[in-house]
Amino acid sequence: MSIAIYPGSFDPITNGHLDIIERGSKIFDELIVAVLQNPSKKYLFTMEERIEMIKDAVKHLPNVEVDYFNGLLVDFARKRNAKIVIKGLRAVSDFEYELQMALMNKKLYKDLETVFIMTSTKYSFLSSSIVREVASFGGCVKDLVPPVVEEKLRQKFALKN
Ligand code: PNS
Repeated sequence: MSIAIYPGSFDPITNGHLDIIERGSKIFDELIVAVLQNPSKKYLFTMEERIEMIKDAVKHLPNVEVDYFNGLLVDFARKRNAKIVIKGLRAVSDFEYELQMALMNKKLYKDLETVFIMTSTKYSFLSSSIVREVASFGGCVKDLVPPVVEEKLRQKFALKN
């Protein structure tokens, strides 16, 4: 059985992430969305909020599970018996850092393969940080994030329609 991990901060999950999750869930038997808790990083949303939003956004996908980790991704992958990591690639600019991470993860866990899925062009400009920035100034993020995230952002900031 193929178990894949899709790791990230998901602060918050966007439709770009969701697109990768939906496509990844068709390729692998089981997909674990793994939310990183990095103690040295300041997040807009708590771990509980990030997990809750992802769970709501993926509830239509029966083979997708949401979990969290701290520390090394390879340790989490071993713990969950997963040998595949999936990552979305938006542009060439993503590639250099992703290649570095994929090679380091392979060095730490030789059976781990990183599989890249090309982001849909309609989401190629999208990132959690740009969504946070637009929402923080009251801009509309509809169509860019799942409805549950739009609502949560609305609660954090005063969004225009
Ligand atoms: O959504 P992000 O913040 O771009 O995701 C980055 C993430 C979580 C995939 C990456 O930072 C990660 O895997 N962190 C865990 C720590 C780790 O294993 N570092 C070594 C990787 S080379």
